[in-house]
Amino acid sequence: ARTRGLRFGSATAWSAPGADRGGIGNPRYTALLERDCGILVAENEMKWQRLRPTPATFDFERADAIVALAKAKGMAMRGHTLLWHQTKWMPRWEATHDFGPRPATAGAAMLTQHIQTVIARYAPQVASWDVVNEAVNPNGSGLYETALSRAIGGAEPTLDLAFRTARAAAPGAQLVYNDYMSWEPGNDAHRAGVLKLLEGFRKRGTPVDALGLQSHLVTQGTAGGIAGQQAEWRRFLDAVTGMGYKLVVTEFDVRDNRLPADPAIRDRGVADYARAYLDVTLSYRQLRDVLAWGLSDRYSWIEGFEPRGDKARRRPTLYDRDFRPKPLYGAVAAAL
Ligand code: XIL
Repeated sequence: ARTRGLRFGSATAWSAPGADRGGIGNPRYTALLERDCGILVAENEMKWQRLRPTPATFDFERADAIVALAKAKGMAMRGHTLLWHQTKWMPRWEATHDFGPRPATAGAAMLTQHIQTVIARYAPQVASWDVVNEAVNPNGSGLYETALSRAIGGAEPTLDLAFRTARAAAPGAQLVYNDYMSWEPGNDAHRAGVLKLLEGFRKRGTPVDALGLQSHLVTQGTAGGIAGQQAEWRRFLDAVTGMGYKLVVTEFDVRDNRLPADPAIRDRGVADYARAYLDVTLSYRQLRDVLAWGLSDRYSWIEGFEPRGDKARRRPTLYDRDFRPKPLYGAVAAAL
């Protein structure tokens, strides 16, 4: 990656010292991070759910520990995320919060204070922020609303305020809108919704620098369809970069759907599928950073989020459950 002017990195969790988890307390896991990564992102610890136990307080302890590790090892950091714009991903208190007699003022104050406080704490270590995460409903119905955005007066002004506040607080940082619209068939409405949002940002002069491509890929098991998917994906990325946006691969992993349980066959299918995706995506000079969403199958979130259903364990990441590199490692390395 470095020889091409790119950066590879990964998400990491916080974890207690010695625990068998995919986090910074696990030397077997941090060995992988240190070997492969030039940049880290906190898998959960910078989200509102973790930073904001109550409306009046912040808890930075675990996020601080991840940032400290990156600093000690000379790794850059991405920040994820200043606003995950969905009720289920806000702290539980948010849904019933009383914004008082002037909700627009109180809501705007809460959002700006949050963003200013988090950015002030982690600048200059964090040079790229997922300012807003997953605001677009993938079914094509538009933007989500939360209690906070209703108080402020709607999703659009809320997202604009988030980006404007972030720009003022971190003028040199890359500001990213991050979402999971992917290249697989069935995501047309989601991609269209994201394009519409990005157009709106440009029209209103909202300071957004890049689109975060989460890249939680899902194998379809139809090799013949790959060229069509690549063409479709290129059209999308052309439209995004045509508006002047940069690109970041923010959360790469692969869900091995419709591939046989045999790990050897599955790993090969996953690697080929990912290579086809990365070849197109990395052909854009607007892209510099590629981050995996965790480095070992042993700890990947995919197992809990969407198990395979045939009892075979998920194999979504570059290293297997015993920390051995898989064909996906080779595919990513070759694509970089
Ligand atoms: C996931 C984490 O990996 C899980 O540990 C957590 O329970 C839920 O969130 N899109 C995102 C990430 O932007 O923040 C999500 O991370 C995965 C999907």
